[in-house]
Amino acid sequence: MDPFFKKLGESVYDQWKKANFDLTLFPDLARKALEKSKPSAHVDLQELIHEFLLQDDQPFQTASGFGQPELILFDNPKFYIQALFWLDGTTDIHQHEFSGAFHVMAGSSIHSTYEFEKAKQITAHFRLGDLKLRDVTLLKTGSTVPITSGRACIHSLFHLETPSVTIVIRTHSDPGTGPQFTYLPPHVALDPIQQDALTTRRKQLLDVLEQTGAPDYADLVLEMLDELDLERGFFIIQNCIGHLRNLGEWDRAWSLFARKHGSAVIPIKQTLEEIIRRDALTAMRATVEDVEHRFFLALLLNLERREDLLRLITSRHRGNAATTILRWASELIQFDETGVWLLDARIPWMNDHEEEELPSLVLEVLDHLLKNGGSAVKKQSGWKGSQAAKFALIKVRLMSSSWRVLLR
Ligand SMILES: [Fe+2]
Repeated sequence: MDPFFKKLGESVYDQWKKANFDLTLFPDLARKALEKSKPSAHVDLQELIHEFLLQDDQPFQTASGFGQPELILFDNPKFYIQALFWLDGTTDIHQHEFSGAFHVMAGSSIHSTYEFEKAKQITAHFRLGDLKLRDVTLLKTGSTVPITSGRACIHSLFHLETPSVTIVIRTHSDPGTGPQFTYLPPHVALDPIQQDALTTRRKQLLDVLEQTGAPDYADLVLEMLDELDLERGFFIIQNCIGHLRNLGEWDRAWSLFARKHGSAVIPIKQTLEEIIRRDALTAMRATVEDVEHRFFLALLLNLERREDLLRLITSRHRGNAATTILRWASELIQFDETGVWLLDARIPWMNDHEEEELPSLVLEVLDHLLKNGGSAVKKQSGWKGSQAAKFALIKVRLMSSSWRVLLR
């Protein structure tokens, strides 16, 4: 067992015991212990890895799938200390059935906190409501944040460096604070632990039909949607949206779902649209290695307010944030046979434009929109006739993509 974490664990145990293991005091106690011991300054990551690999004297390890991976560094009947390695970067928006505190030992992360308002329970494991972004901060190496169980602490993390390592001091479980909801913005909360196994198997079977090109796929999905309740219908339609769209059957499926469930489907539609947007950006992240570009993708993925984006960019990069964004855009811009791509915005080729012209025109419009807002095209008196129409088209495409948060 690593001596640093043995000492830290024993110290936390002694202090909490003196407080009669009062759960309400634990997050602050854990936070103070991490801030005082500061693993980021005093633990050598390479030594920790070597010790864990070469010494058999280790605490009991769980079979948890959380972290990439999770190492238990100190174990006690009341709480434990874990190190979480992160390679991919992002966690779902979630709440916890445990409490304690976490400390950024290596790397840095964007931390977003939320509230879930006007929650309406559809079933014990599925809720609809309004997920509102509360705060966004950049957690640098050495930052420590308390964790409270239940709805008071809904958050997500996007880890910027690979690997990022977090140290967590946490209780095993706080009874009565579950389920440990995962949130799909802007309106859905679901319990990821209590997934209905029949629905899981049905989704997998539908995936088989998708991959084998079954001719009755769409008809079967529609029949299911006609039969199923709202919660299970949501899981099926979420699973099948991509293939139904490819088949040109999405409108038919959605009309049926909307007819069956009435106004309850409005928040579900907005959630499905957001899932598609986030999936596209997350898939891009897999191909983006530059840490600055990953940082920018994380901001677009997680933030809803232009001022938050500009503030976080300024906190990490000197100079004007709009100039930095434009540089990133010029590095990220790509094209293929369908048009010019700026992340998830596609601007189709226009007849009279050569390959070298349209990308620079897109960047020029982006520059104007970033500096002057959505009315930039109208204000630019030099843009008239067909040129103004091209600018307007580029603007529409940017405004209907993840760039919109910056251009409002
Ligand atoms: Fe968390």
